[in-house]
Amino acid sequence: MRNEYLIAKEIILKNGQSLILRRANADDAEKMIEYLNTVGGESDNLLFGKNEFNKTIEEEREYINNLNYSDDLMIIGLIDNNIASIANIRRLLRKRIAHNSEVAISVKKEYWGIGVGYAVMNELIEFAKNNNIKNISLGVKASNNKAFNLYRKCGFKEIGRHKDFFNLDGVFDDEILMDLYL
Ligand SMILES: CC(C)(COP(=O)(O)OP(=O)(O)OC[C@H]1O[C@@H](n2cnc3c(N)ncnc32)[C@H](O)[C@@H]1OP(=O)(O)O)[C@@H](O)C(=O)NCCC(=O)NCCS
Repeated sequence: MRNEYLIAKEIILKNGQSLILRRANADDAEKMIEYLNTVGGESDNLLFGKNEFNKTIEEEREYINNLNYSDDLMIIGLIDNNIASIANIRRLLRKRIAHNSEVAISVKKEYWGIGVGYAVMNELIEFAKNNNIKNISLGVKASNNKAFNLYRKCGFKEIGRHKDFFNLDGVFDDEILMDLYL
């Protein structure tokens, strides 16, 4: 059944701009693909690079529709009607581990450093608290200090590492594993 959590919410950012957080819907598909293909080229810290997000609009629409009828949540953050952030929280599938979840987040470069990531992560955490999730896990590239600091600020603790997990054209880096128990 569709989970109605987070229909829309406004947050006033550090610089006075208004951030609208809401559940992604199928009509966002085209803009989301454009956003993901842009942010992939703005940082080496995501799992995909510039123009490496290859879904068609139809495929993305279907993905979002399915997601909105699952227990998962995909949030988009809008500033002046432009997508500033996309983030999601996914429950693990099997019943015996379904109280655990994973999150992923990105913010468009022109909106870095004004509190968007913090606001979005707090919404994902609120969603988890309201949906019987007991643990949120994530992985972050060891050299990604900004994201590591953001996660620590939100209460995540480092619990281990995958050595040389990332390979960027022959340059390896560890993945730091972090958990937040609710
Ligand atoms: C990492 C990322 C999500 C942070 O989002 P953001 O909106 O810029 O972060 P915020 O402005 O909300 O800042 C929240 C906290 O993050 C940390 N942070 C943000 N910018 C930072 C910087 N330049 N240096 C160090 N820490 C920083 C700080 O702890 C900050 O809290 P503070 O303002 O009290 O110091 C964003 O930079 C991003 O999308 N980067 C590219 C993709 C990526 O790395 N995604 C995460 C993959 S695991």
